[in-house]
Amino acid sequence: MGFYITTPIYYVNATPHIGHAYTTIAADIITRHRRQRGEDTFFLTGTDEHGSNIPRVAEEAGLELQEFVDRNAAAFREMTLKVNASNDFFIRTTDPRHGERVGEFLQRIYERGDIYEGVYSGLYCSRCEAFYTEAELVDGLCPQHGIPPEFVEEKNYFFRLSAYAEPLLRLFDERPDIVLPGFRYNEARRFVEQGLDDISVSRASQRWGVPVPWDTSQVVYVWVDALINYWSALAFAREDEDLRPRYWPEVRHFLAKDILKFHCVIWPALLLAAGLEVPKQLFVHGYLLMDDRKMSKSIGNVIDPLDLIDVYGVDPVRFYLFRVATFGQDGSISIDGLHERYERELGNDLGNLLSRTTAMIARYREGRLREAVVSAELAADIDRVGGEVAARLDAFDLTGALEVVWELVRRLNRHVEQSAPWELAKDEARAEDLDRVLFELADGLRAVAVALAGFVPETSQRVLAALGQSEDVSWGLVAAGKTVASEGIEPAPPLFPRVDPPTAAAA
Ligand code: MSP
Repeated sequence: MGFYITTPIYYVNATPHIGHAYTTIAADIITRHRRQRGEDTFFLTGTDEHGSNIPRVAEEAGLELQEFVDRNAAAFREMTLKVNASNDFFIRTTDPRHGERVGEFLQRIYERGDIYEGVYSGLYCSRCEAFYTEAELVDGLCPQHGIPPEFVEEKNYFFRLSAYAEPLLRLFDERPDIVLPGFRYNEARRFVEQGLDDISVSRASQRWGVPVPWDTSQVVYVWVDALINYWSALAFAREDEDLRPRYWPEVRHFLAKDILKFHCVIWPALLLAAGLEVPKQLFVHGYLLMDDRKMSKSIGNVIDPLDLIDVYGVDPVRFYLFRVATFGQDGSISIDGLHERYERELGNDLGNLLSRTTAMIARYREGRLREAVVSAELAADIDRVGGEVAARLDAFDLTGALEVVWELVRRLNRHVEQSAPWELAKDEARAEDLDRVLFELADGLRAVAVALAGFVPETSQRVLAALGQSEDVSWGLVAAGKTVASEGIEPAPPLFPRVDPPTAAAA
């Protein structure tokens, strides 16, 4: 069975920002890591294009509907490339092949008896694409967007969500790790325990969307349409293969807390109603908050943090996001914070370690790295990393995994200071010791590069190349003594050259 990873599909009425990039990068890190472990992994991301306000927003932009969504979907595709995501497919809900599957999916539930006709009246927030009760509003406004909801009354088709409270609770009992972290599991459970109302799954007043198969005067509710992407994409992502048997239900959905109920309650219920298997796991992470004060201090204006990739490079941003905030919790980011980590951790801890190691190999050994045996103590420290990082990444603890690697980076820096190769180089009698220390540093750095390959893929390749090692990042190589003898090692140029913090002019 394969391993399947998804991000939410993003609304095309907004432009991509660092928050979207955050989930996409997290999913990419796990994907790359799983591939390193030799697992058959499929990574899906994409765009959600049938929002009820899309027709209005498109009109305001003076564009045809399809042209509008094409343009904005392209911006999300670019973001995906910009953050170096290795997704296997990019789904768009306006793809007719998706629409077809949405129809089939709904028809199945209809035929099994869990969809019925009724009249819906209620308060609707078009930004959330969700109904609210009076009690849920804050001063009469949408609690998430602070805008007045619209009163909507129409004939709709309803999904018998209420009938799934019991099955969902049983599911939660059986699979306590279905929603992670634990406090999000409790939150999802509480939603179900509080009782579930049936939900409307169609819209009579709209044309923009997937037609309801048995009543084409209505379109499918955008959230139902969107959730089904995780299933439909597998059916048509590859022309020659239906990927569903290969990857479903081995899916791990990544999302932020804003859309927990849709994913952890409604989506499993829809799947159960359609007679399909529920997702293996859902990881609900926190919000990335921009520290506006610090942002504005540096530049006199707020910079789009995605633009920081142009200044610092993609790897430093990928690194920083999971270093500064514990994945799962909310966390603040700032330009100052990124700059500081760039200089101290990437520039000094890692970059200098590589510069010094390669410079010493070039200087003391004319660029020849000789094979040696890594001392037992250091070998144990290196060997521990593979297992510990994998264990943390299995629990989606990206921040913890990064810290484990960084402990090794710091350990190697201490090794340089303690073994003082520049002293060994002065004494012919200690030539073997010098060979060993140089090998140990190279070997440790190589292991670090492999362990970091999911987080900072480009940097990882540069480190391996500078040490004359193969590009292979198979997980088994996160171990001591896997370095091969090599020649022609030159002092590596700085991995992370000095950068001026961005100014308004540069941004
Ligand atoms: N279209 C729906 C999702 C449908 S999935 C079947 C949607 N789109 S969205 O564009 O609003 O994206 C929301 C998601 O973007 C969040 O769940 C999260 O993954 C990501 N984020 C957007 N802003 C974010 C932050 N500031 N911080 C963390 N994640 C953020 O909801």
